[in-house]
Amino acid sequence: MDAPDRNAPLDDIDRIMSVMERAFQPEFGEAWNRRQVGDALVVGNCRYGLIGSDGHDTLADHEDAAGFFLSRAILDEEELLLFAIAPAHRRKGLGHLLLSRFLATSKQAGMSRVFLEMRRGNPAAFLYAAHGFQEIGVRPSYYRTPDGSRIDAISQELVF
Ligand SMILES: CC(C)(COP(=O)(O)OP(=O)(O)OC[C@H]1O[C@@H](n2cnc3c(N)ncnc32)[C@H](O)[C@@H]1OP(=O)(O)O)[C@@H](O)C(=O)NCCC(=O)NCCS
Repeated sequence: MDAPDRNAPLDDIDRIMSVMERAFQPEFGEAWNRRQVGDALVVGNCRYGLIGSDGHDTLADHEDAAGFFLSRAILDEEELLLFAIAPAHRRKGLGHLLLSRFLATSKQAGMSRVFLEMRRGNPAAFLYAAHGFQEIGVRPSYYRTPDGSRIDAISQELVF
């Protein structure tokens, strides 16, 4: 087998996985594995976006991502499947910036509604509320943690 080319540009799935592995708390089982991400990205209706530590959405060849989103559109509705900023880059406004870009491109693409599901108590709720998302439903005790406790899943939507 050939040795990896250290000068090769970083692959976007590597960038996504690198953020994924750091961003999600393992006990909630929210992170996807590499295969799930790869499978989603070969499906035509899924898209992703990256953000660098300086806020840019176009990364230099060897630059890691500070955050990413991954979404799936069905007709005129888009679901935000994954959204994360790596811990070292949080509370600097990158989440606001990436979410604004996601919403702008979604609207531009003709979507009429965006929705997502999150674990109750996730501080991401403040971010989503700031961008106009509203709670539309609850799946009681949807997430199970290793200690046996249960946490509700909250569905949120934003209508353009
Ligand atoms: C949620 C997340 C994306 C926010 O990223 P971020 O870059 O820190 O976001 P910002 O700096 O733009 O802050 C956005 C707002 O979110 C809220 N917020 C983010 N983290 C918070 C925390 N730990 N406690 C309270 N509020 C928080 C604040 O309202 C903040 O706005 P403010 O700083 O103006 O008060 C990030 O914490 C993350 O990746 N979490 C783990 C993955 C995850 O749970 N994703 C959402 C799945 S539904």
